[in-house]
Amino acid sequence: MSKQFAVIGNPIEQSRSPELHHAFAAKTGVQLNYAKRLAPLDGFSASIHDFFSQGGAGMNVTVPFKEQAFAECAVLTERAKIAKAVNTLWMQDGQLHGDNTDGQGLVEAIKALGWTLENAELLIIGAGGATRGVIYPLVQAGVKKIVIANRTLARAEQLIADLKQAVPQAELSAVSLDNLAGNFDIAINATSASLSGDALLLPQALQFKQAYEMAYGKPSSFLDQAKARGVPASEGFGMLVGQAIESFRIWNGVKPNLKDFL
Ligand code: ATR
Repeated sequence: MSKQFAVIGNPIEQSRSPELHHAFAAKTGVQLNYAKRLAPLDGFSASIHDFFSQGGAGMNVTVPFKEQAFAECAVLTERAKIAKAVNTLWMQDGQLHGDNTDGQGLVEAIKALGWTLENAELLIIGAGGATRGVIYPLVQAGVKKIVIANRTLARAEQLIADLKQAVPQAELSAVSLDNLAGNFDIAINATSASLSGDALLLPQALQFKQAYEMAYGKPSSFLDQAKARGVPASEGFGMLVGQAIESFRIWNGVKPNLKDFL
């Protein structure tokens, strides 16, 4: 019988995870079935326990349940502990295990573009959960300096205070979006501005060589401004595929090649 997987969220209809995992399975010869699972906002815990008690092999977790998934796990990977959010669940030795593959997905997507992370100086705009989830994998990939720019400066400062022990080899600093200036290798938009259709105005004093938008399939004023400056720019589809590949690797022990699915 093929292994059963699912992505759980609310809403869930928009999720592209089933098509990605079925494409990876077809390419690698793994037998699996991957479904969408809508959980009521107050029913996440019951839904995952029901899934695993029926023999489910693994689950991806999406909005708004990643923090709840983190709280449910008996065993967590280092990167999930630092992210304080889990997007990949499986049962092992009767215990619920959790990992967070979003950051590795971003790292692999950036590498697939041919952009360099080793010794890079990065700007990340935004200081929410999306930023928290990617700092540690980016530093593991060799990033030396990260400036976190946020509309609310105190939130960026708090995030750095939380994370700096986890990444002692990197230099982290916070700046308010209004005072943002300097020259960066890669600028990453980790705000939810594109998702909500809001504009994000980049200061003229800011310069960057490459631009990555974590959102995908939405108009992005961040990407528009990068393109207007003639800077190579990418939306976040590669990150989505990258995090799915990393989940697939954890569950099935085989790693599909990202570039085959872009
Ligand atoms: P996520 O989990 O996706 O990171 P979040 O925790 O709600 O979501 O964080 C959203 C981030 O996008 C925050 O950094 C937020 O800035 P504030 O901390 O100042 O609220 C940022 N953000 C959202 N809309 C924005 C906009 N229009 N301009 C600038 N920043 C925006």
